[in-house]
Amino acid sequence: MPDEEMLSVAPDGRPAKDQPAWRKDFPLDWPEDEYRSRREFVAFLMLISGAFVTGHFWILLIQSWRKAAGNLPVKEIASLNELGVGQSKLFEYPRPGNRCILVRLSETTFVAYGQKCTHLSCPVLPRPDLGRMHCPCHEGWFDIRTGVPVAGPPRRPLPRVGLEVRDGKVFANGYVQGVI
Ligand code: FES
Repeated sequence: MPDEEMLSVAPDGRPAKDQPAWRKDFPLDWPEDEYRSRREFVAFLMLISGAFVTGHFWILLIQSWRKAAGNLPVKEIASLNELGVGQSKLFEYPRPGNRCILVRLSETTFVAYGQKCTHLSCPVLPRPDLGRMHCPCHEGWFDIRTGVPVAGPPRRPLPRVGLEVRDGKVFANGYVQGVI
């Protein structure tokens, strides 16, 4: 039972049951007001819990997407005699529009990277004579053998494409996690 002292009287003097609905939504009485505060606090807690659960689902979704991305197709990207040592070739992997670059470092060594710089996505270019990949936009440099940034603004390595050589051909077979 609310404390009578804490109940206010509406300006028109009519009892609470005869008051318009909007006055119930904006009560002047302390007991009603406290009830609303509790209700708002519970709503706030539910909102936070909902955001927490949504965040977890989002993380699970990203993880399953990454797992799925691990099973990328094997795709022929070049023949062995197509590239001399020090030469490179652009290709798209795993989907059209995902531009990558293959570089032949020696008779037996190839490397391939996603061509987007990890700073602001400019296309990187091979400089095998310097042992590096170069991003001309802001003078970013990467080690050509590992994709690790060595100078300039980039902080993350280039995404490295996994390769296999067989039957005189070079195949892309996914992305390599971490640095080899
Ligand atoms: S985009 Fe490559 S260094 Fe900035």
